[in-house]
Amino acid sequence: MRIEEAFRTGLKMLEESAVPSARIAAEVLLMHTLACDRAYLYAHPERHLSEAEQAGYACCLQQRAGGKPTQYITGHQEFWGLDFRVTTEVLIPRPETEHVVERAVELGQAMAAERAPAIVDVGTGSGCIAVAASRELPRARVLGTDISEGALRVAAENARRLAPHARFCRCDLLAAVAGRSVDIVVSNPPYVPTTAAAGLQREIREHEPHQAVFAGPQGMEVYEALVPEAARVLRPGGWVVFELSYNTVERVRALFDERWSEVEVRPDLAGIPRVGSAQLRVMS
Ligand SMILES: C[S@@+](CC[C@H](N)C(=O)[O-])C[C@H]1O[C@@H](n2cnc3c(N)ncnc32)[C@H](O)[C@@H]1O
Repeated sequence: MRIEEAFRTGLKMLEESAVPSARIAAEVLLMHTLACDRAYLYAHPERHLSEAEQAGYACCLQQRAGGKPTQYITGHQEFWGLDFRVTTEVLIPRPETEHVVERAVELGQAMAAERAPAIVDVGTGSGCIAVAASRELPRARVLGTDISEGALRVAAENARRLAPHARFCRCDLLAAVAGRSVDIVVSNPPYVPTTAAAGLQREIREHEPHQAVFAGPQGMEVYEALVPEAARVLRPGGWVVFELSYNTVERVRALFDERWSEVEVRPDLAGIPRVGSAQLRVMS
């Protein structure tokens, strides 16, 4: 079978299985199988696949048609212009989470004139936020926490390659972090209500880790625990930066009591409220 034929067969199979963005998936999986880039596929449409390559591509297509996200099949996802390794133990980093990094970096840069900021990324998953922040703020002390041992292994592997100064620790939210020791708490916590599971894409519902996606029946449970914990670990004048979704934004805003100021919500490129930030008052 030639590259061109393999691609057409793959595309047909994915379309018949109602895979979203089937063309891109068929192409990416073929590039993954042949360990080549897109230019090679188009430059060599007549190149024959070996039997092993055909079998490898068929296996990838079967997994994708069955609902497994392309990134879990290839083991890679780009975030902040960097190549992150992903496994089924971590959430696949989403482009909108880059807005969370932007806000944390902006705040970190503003602090850097005074001192090297201490930043904790709660629920670090693949380590994408911690790694990106550590690269943008090379003097910062960046720690990622997670309750998942498997996620922390992936985060540490990504950091070894991309941001060797970032550190990781297994704990519940900020339990291992000392009081009044942190300048920025950043987090993309789980925020989908368990009651909304049936309405999710099967890729998310059946393949991404439940503890990365679901917070509890309300979707607010992790934010509710995280805000007082952040108030405990932040130095006065420190900041929290959270990823939000359109249906949590007002309820998260309400969690910031009189101890907080500068509560602000910024939208993502689609205009959806996405990044919440707030400053712990100096006299908190
Ligand atoms: C939505 S994922 C975010 C992963 C990554 N930060 C990102 O933006 O792609 C949430 C992460 O929080 C972790 N998590 C869930 N509950 C936690 C808790 N109580 N303490 C620490 N981490 C938790 C999950 O294991 C998961 O890795």
